[in-house]
Amino acid sequence: MLVLGIESSCDESGVALYDTDKGLLAHSLYSQIELHAEYGGVVPELASRDHIKKITPLIKELLASQNLQLSDLDGIAYTAGPGLIGALLVGASIGRSLALGLNIPAVGVHHMEGHLLAPMLEDPQPTPPFIALLVSGGHTMLVEVKSLGNYQILGESLDDAAGEAFDKTAKLLDLGYPGGPVLAALAEKGESGVYTFPRPMTDRPGLDFSFSGLKTFTLTTWQKSAQTDQDKANIARAFQDAVVDTLFIKCKRALQQSNCNTLVIAGGVGANKQLRNKLAALDAKVSFPRLEFCTDNGAMIAYAGAMRLLAGAAEAPVIKPCPRWPIDELSAVEEVG
Ligand code: KG4
Ligand code: ZN
Repeated sequence: MLVLGIESSCDESGVALYDTDKGLLAHSLYSQIELHAEYGGVVPELASRDHIKKITPLIKELLASQNLQLSDLDGIAYTAGPGLIGALLVGASIGRSLALGLNIPAVGVHHMEGHLLAPMLEDPQPTPPFIALLVSGGHTMLVEVKSLGNYQILGESLDDAAGEAFDKTAKLLDLGYPGGPVLAALAEKGESGVYTFPRPMTDRPGLDFSFSGLKTFTLTTWQKSAQTDQDKANIARAFQDAVVDTLFIKCKRALQQSNCNTLVIAGGVGANKQLRNKLAALDAKVSFPRLEFCTDNGAMIAYAGAMRLLAGAAEAPVIKPCPRWPIDELSAVEEVG
């Protein structure tokens, strides 16, 4: 079964072709980072308009790169939520209309399920049950993946998501947009231990997170410092050390608590080098998607959708994105080919 995946939940237009026999055939991405940079964050209306311009040409190029045509497709998967409503509407409208015109099934994919399953695009594939750490710009959660579609949230952020904390802290330090990668690069130049930040909510039981206090801590530390370039780098390092340590402590706890020995990392913050190194040292099988599949992409949507279509997912031909959509409300996938 050949499935076209379309991702348009935020500021990245992603498309991919996943063949359930041959695996991932091709994928491509257009990032809107430059478009939003001058505003210091994503402007939803600009994002929607840009998805409209970019997605159809991306699909045409993708098919041409594989000498394939629309008529070769057996199914379409598009991100139905959570995300920006206008941006989601674009992918959903294109996906649904194509499916209707081609008389093939389409499925609306949960963006976070896409992230969660992105490590399945790698070889060897992790096999459920496993614990997944989802760390993106909008979500931070620990999920027990019992089987495909059967997800139990063990803990989540009570305020800012990890990526959001990176982005907001980067803004406070005047590092520009997108904050995560820039702050991470600066942290590499910083010295560990010059400043010590709290590891929020690690001194009490449970698997929830709270990252919003760290940005205030960053601001006051910066204001009290001599404000040299090295101070900034040291503060960036202290912030990153705190986030990484906190995520490490909670992952270790989640594995122990659920008696599981496989951890999967997903979402944009999963691209963070220090986090990858630290988690790789856990006494467990730790699986990361390649860097380009940590951040938003079409491949994860094509894969998640293909698994559901293969299991016979049938949805009414209705364009109905869900900007808010709890991941534990998804239906379990019974058969996987
Ligand atoms: O998963 P993603 O691409 O989009 C969402 O679904 O949110 O994640 C984007 C988030 C942003 O907050 C970005 O700053 C963060 O991931 N991010 C990073 C790194 N690369 C991306 N955070 C820390 N270190 C990185 N290297
Ligand atoms: Zn994402």
